[in-house]
Amino acid sequence: TTTSHFSHVESISKLSAAGKISGVNAVVLGEALASEEDELVFPNDEFSRQALVPSPKKYLEMYKRSVEDPAGFWSDIASQFYWKQKWGRPVFSENFDVRKGNVKIEWFKGGITNICYNCLDRNVESGNADKIAIYWEPNDPGSQDSLTYFQLLQRVCQLANYLKDKGVKKGDAVVIYLPMIMELPIAMLACARIGAVHSVVFAGFSAESLAQRIVDCKPKVVLTCNAVKRGSKVITLKEIVDAALVESAKSGILVDLCLTYENKSAMKRESTKWREGRDVWWQDVVPKYPTTCEVEWVDAEDPLFLLYTSGSTGKPKGVLHTTGGYMVYTATTFKYAFDYKPSDIYWCTADCGWITGHSYVTYGPLLNGATIVVFEGAPNYPDSGRCWDIVDKFKVTIFYTAPTLVRSLMRDGDEYVTRYPRKSLRVLGSVGEPINPSAWRWFFNVVGGSRCPISDTWWQTETGGFMITPLPGAWPQKPGSATFPFFGVQPVIVDEKGAEIEGECSGYLCVKSSWPGAFRTLYGDHERYETTYFKPFPGYYFSGDGCRRDKDGYYWLTGRVDDVINVSGHRIGTAEVESALVSHPQCAEAAVVGIEHEVKGQGIYAFVTLVDGVPYSDELRKSLIHKVRNQIGAFAAPDKVHWAPGLPKTRSGKIMRRILRKIASRQLNELGDTSTLADPNVVEQLIALADR
Ligand code: WTA
Repeated sequence: TTTSHFSHVESISKLSAAGKISGVNAVVLGEALASEEDELVFPNDEFSRQALVPSPKKYLEMYKRSVEDPAGFWSDIASQFYWKQKWGRPVFSENFDVRKGNVKIEWFKGGITNICYNCLDRNVESGNADKIAIYWEPNDPGSQDSLTYFQLLQRVCQLANYLKDKGVKKGDAVVIYLPMIMELPIAMLACARIGAVHSVVFAGFSAESLAQRIVDCKPKVVLTCNAVKRGSKVITLKEIVDAALVESAKSGILVDLCLTYENKSAMKRESTKWREGRDVWWQDVVPKYPTTCEVEWVDAEDPLFLLYTSGSTGKPKGVLHTTGGYMVYTATTFKYAFDYKPSDIYWCTADCGWITGHSYVTYGPLLNGATIVVFEGAPNYPDSGRCWDIVDKFKVTIFYTAPTLVRSLMRDGDEYVTRYPRKSLRVLGSVGEPINPSAWRWFFNVVGGSRCPISDTWWQTETGGFMITPLPGAWPQKPGSATFPFFGVQPVIVDEKGAEIEGECSGYLCVKSSWPGAFRTLYGDHERYETTYFKPFPGYYFSGDGCRRDKDGYYWLTGRVDDVINVSGHRIGTAEVESALVSHPQCAEAAVVGIEHEVKGQGIYAFVTLVDGVPYSDELRKSLIHKVRNQIGAFAAPDKVHWAPGLPKTRSGKIMRRILRKIASRQLNELGDTSTLADPNVVEQLIALADR
């Protein structure tokens, strides 16, 4: 076949044949290359020799099978997990084409399993009972905690028993609003054990955002803690939950149980605001329950979790993942993309409030019996060397983080890194946004000592796991490129009309057929699922990302092409920020665009028009920003507010964001055609006010 999903296979073959891919020791070829596309960084021989996928040849074999015989490929892998009852036939079924009816994806249907059992019991029974499952590093350096697989299982069982006792049953939703303490993965696993559907809400979200999610998924219980320290700040999470529960009650959603962990290092229970009857201290009840708990066996297609993410309207989308396919996919992607070995110590800096924390803090690694590091604090506290202090302390071998952190540490200087030996590191990873080549090189040369391959993993909340990613050891990397598709993934690049483009090109990144980790629906809104992801380019899943494929078949992600901004690797919908701004009584209209930001990747730039007669002032600017922090969370606060007496609109009233983006980035001579505007003078006015 010469269909385009094999084009990269041919490219790798050609590169190999031309002797371009061989085991040359790791070097970053000179900067004098014609273009970034020509820069190849080779894994060293020894790394490749010991790698799970040691060569392009091996990858090509596996990849071909994965797309030609997906049922066989994935069944073989799935068989390595415990299934109470094996799945039926077909192994998977899908309708990816909206024109042929409702979109539907199923993997391993009829298979009966439990992901918590596969993460814990299976590892305990196979000789890993005393292996460390979690190392926990608190915000303040100097102490630590840990749990073996056996201890983790016991903790999970106690919480599972408690939840069951409180009436939480299979299919019930549980909202988890916790920081990075061990109780967060424990809570996720406990829900999974009893078949409850967890919905973790990142503990940086505001009360309003939390309330919105509670109203949408109607949980039986909310799990939280009283407070957390991040750096030198104390954040009183329980008060945020209190406010959210008042808010959600207004919509008729009453939650009558709020299990609260006393996070002593941040706040004592005596200082915690309390609602008798509803609030219960975790430590007072959970440890009294038995340390074993019967597993609730579920179908592979039973829901595992809901995770809300931003889209192009103000309402967050409840991305729903099911059990079996997600389990097989996260475990497999983790294993290959990080070349996981049982002796590895793995640290992913992501918070479990995001998909990266779901798939690659909790499920993927634990399914592999890995030892993980969970870090409560901030990476630059007490100083910018904290990460490397932690790496040395636990002898971390695989370090997975986001480009924004790499850039911010890079700015702070090499000395914070070189002060620590970091000898244990062998694989690095990056996720959340495109990593710019200069940050890539710094990560590679300075952090990794020029010996650790970087897995730049492209994927999304919706995809459940890695889609395009290097396999360290298999082929040379290009700084800034996520390289090639993972097994079973058939990426295609399409033009505006939805036609596939072959070879070297750029366009919209789509996927051609399903993979086990794909999300199955948007909770309560299958129509929105189809409209957002499957209707833009019928026949494909549309990622929302732009992408380029170079002459060697490498994929380069170029960023979102929809109304989503990626700030420090956090997805934020422009519509969400706009609706927060216009809820300010003095704001009449708002238009938000992304701008380039040195550390965050993208920053938020907000144009606001004010209610008639209201003067613009610094105070008002602050109060507008405050409104966004309150409504969404601090991470969504605009970097710049631009007062706009009027916004550039077409005669039909549509805001011309193209022009706003140019003004925001000060590319004033690239404004393009403004003659179609209802009032072309608006543009001059905006430019004049740019630096107010
Ligand atoms: C972006 C995070 C380039 C992309 C796992 C995607 C990336 C969005 C990469 C999903 C990467 C993530 N290179 N861009 N390696 N990883 N993205 O749902 O725009 O929070 O669509 O999932 O992040 O963000 P989400």
